[in-house]
Amino acid sequence: MSNVTYTQDVHQAWGGVIPELASRAHEARIIPVVDAAINNAKITKQSISAIAFTRGPGLPGSLMVGVSFAKAMALSLNLPLIDVHHMQAHILAHFIKTPGQEFNPPQFPFLCLTVSGGHTQIVKINSYFDFEVIGETIDDAAGEAFDKTAKLLGLPYPGGPLIDKYAKMGDPTKFSFAKPQIKDYDFSFSGFKTSVLYSLQKWQAENPNFVEENLADLCASIQKTIVDVLIDKMKKAVKEYKVQDIALAGGVSANSGLRHAFEKLGKDLKVNTHIPPFSYCTDNAAMIAITGYHKYLAKDFTGQDISAMARWEM
Ligand code: KG4
Ligand code: ZN
Repeated sequence: MSNVTYTQDVHQAWGGVIPELASRAHEARIIPVVDAAINNAKITKQSISAIAFTRGPGLPGSLMVGVSFAKAMALSLNLPLIDVHHMQAHILAHFIKTPGQEFNPPQFPFLCLTVSGGHTQIVKINSYFDFEVIGETIDDAAGEAFDKTAKLLGLPYPGGPLIDKYAKMGDPTKFSFAKPQIKDYDFSFSGFKTSVLYSLQKWQAENPNFVEENLADLCASIQKTIVDVLIDKMKKAVKEYKVQDIALAGGVSANSGLRHAFEKLGKDLKVNTHIPPFSYCTDNAAMIAITGYHKYLAKDFTGQDISAMARWEM
């Protein structure tokens, strides 16, 4: 009914998220954002059936603001509370119905490639509540690989969307970077990041304007390396798990190179691909609400005695 997002610009000046600034911005914005959501939906607080909130995983200070707010609101309105796992919510974003838009969710069981600023996972989803993580990153997440290499190029935070933008004008075969080979369905991006760093140091020693002169080709090549690593693992997983549906989730699924490669993978392997609308890819409240909705139908509530989980296995 409404999906309000407040983006914290305060982190741009620092080239990354500063946890304390994030908590403070959450504290300052949470009431105006909830108010806007209620007003946009044209409902009253009294017509709400339950409060769903993100319990984790994530930055503890930010999570605690949301958890405390949700508990207080539920207590004051005498409503049930529903705790939501952030990564489960990214996946269940596929089940959000948008008025006036076609609704074609993935069929169980399906495989989801979840790629965000903090996570990179391949998950097998058997039902709304039955999730099996079959592979994940052992170091950096895909979003971090985008953001950290963007920083090496002198781009502001978050650099992922900017790499995407410049990559559209560049040649992805111009430069090649290390693609770490990790067993089974796990990922690793730290070796790739180091390879970009050392290559740039070498090229810039020869030509101080190297990055400016080659920005589009560098971005296209960086993007292609990250996308290839993700798609290769996904391809292997689809063949082994023999699913008919595959899905993309998390902030990095906004990347145009990844969306394109994912569609192509589906065509090549003759499986159905599902990519949520852009506004449901990056962090948003609708994905928490849809997860809350399914937990509500299952009467899966939580008490006032819980707290935030910075780390939380799905
Ligand atoms: O899921 P998300 O919004 O927040 C987390 O839970 O982490 O993901 C944010 C991540 C950031 O690393 C950001 O750079 C990346 O998603 N991202 C992109 C694009 N849009 C967002 N990365 C590459 N290309 C994009 N178009
Ligand atoms: Zn996220």
